[in-house]
Amino acid sequence: MKTVLVTGGSGLFGRYVVRALVERFRVIVIDKKQPENTAEYQHGDVLDLTAMIACTRDVDAIVHLAAIPIPLDHPAEEVVRLNVMGTFNMLEAAARNNVRTFVFASSESTLGFAFADRKNHPDYVPVDEEHPLRPQDPYGMSKILCEEMCKSYTRKYGMQTLCLRMPWIWVPEPQEQTFYRALIAEYPNWYKNLWAFVHGIDAADAFALALDRGYRDEHRAWFITADENWTGLASAKLVQEFFPETIINNDRLQGAASLIANDKAKTELGFRPKRTVGDVFSTTNVP
Ligand SMILES: NC(=O)c1ccc[n+]([C@@H]2O[C@H](COP(=O)([O-])OP(=O)(O)OC[C@H]3O[C@@H](n4cnc5c(N)ncnc54)[C@H](O)[C@@H]3O)[C@@H](O)[C@H]2O)c1
Repeated sequence: MKTVLVTGGSGLFGRYVVRALVERFRVIVIDKKQPENTAEYQHGDVLDLTAMIACTRDVDAIVHLAAIPIPLDHPAEEVVRLNVMGTFNMLEAAARNNVRTFVFASSESTLGFAFADRKNHPDYVPVDEEHPLRPQDPYGMSKILCEEMCKSYTRKYGMQTLCLRMPWIWVPEPQEQTFYRALIAEYPNWYKNLWAFVHGIDAADAFALALDRGYRDEHRAWFITADENWTGLASAKLVQEFFPETIINNDRLQGAASLIANDKAKTELGFRPKRTVGDVFSTTNVP
């Protein structure tokens, strides 16, 4: 059985990733916080390179989630320090121990819409991996820097680096459901998010698919989004109202289709999101 190290495995999304992997891999969680589930756990700080080199020995793959997942509650320098140096340390530790596969939790924030202070609208929709990345905030910027570091490690070592760019991960935890209901009621305020989401279980499945892909000497980045936006409203109409300058590719934007396309992940990774917004309002799937 292959061993997969999951940094940040005790976090909100980490729990879903651990559950998706644990039946097929030996999963070791590295986190500063003890996981609530029964996952194999090693206390560790991704900012400590020496410790990360020690705990990545005899590991087949690394899933790197540990990060500050939003720029709003932390000073910029903390976001950049943890996200960028944490990722550097994990890549460097992987290289020193000849770990061949590195799966990275990237973000749609690389695009730069969600946390933009100054006007930034999509050039076209649905947005895809060809769209320019224009972050103004430390979080989006940090994720691009991490993706660039991944590319370098692929170039130098042939390390397989797979970057899964997720939008807001919606999970069925009861306290989160209340929040999502409020968001849906006030959807016009959330236009910068392009109303994009992915269910936690579907996003976690994408990490399992990444590990199932088998080693290749490659760097890849994919948007991992639900098929539809979280408002349930017609996407083209939302764009006309909130982003009048944006070019709408009508053929690819039927009904409430996601404004961030997941076609590349479907084709290259076999990603198949199965869950809708409705599924977020069911607590039966909380890990
Ligand atoms: N939540 C989202 O909507 C979302 C969307 C896109 C991408 N992501 C990315 O997914 C990943 C996980 O996000 P999340 O929402 O679960 O965040 P979270 O804050 O719930 O979990 C992060 C985990 O990392 C751990 N951690 C923090 N600093 C650490 C350190 N120095 N060393 C070791 N562990 C440390 C924390 O204890 C926590 O368990 C992040 O990389 C985030 O950027 C999240």
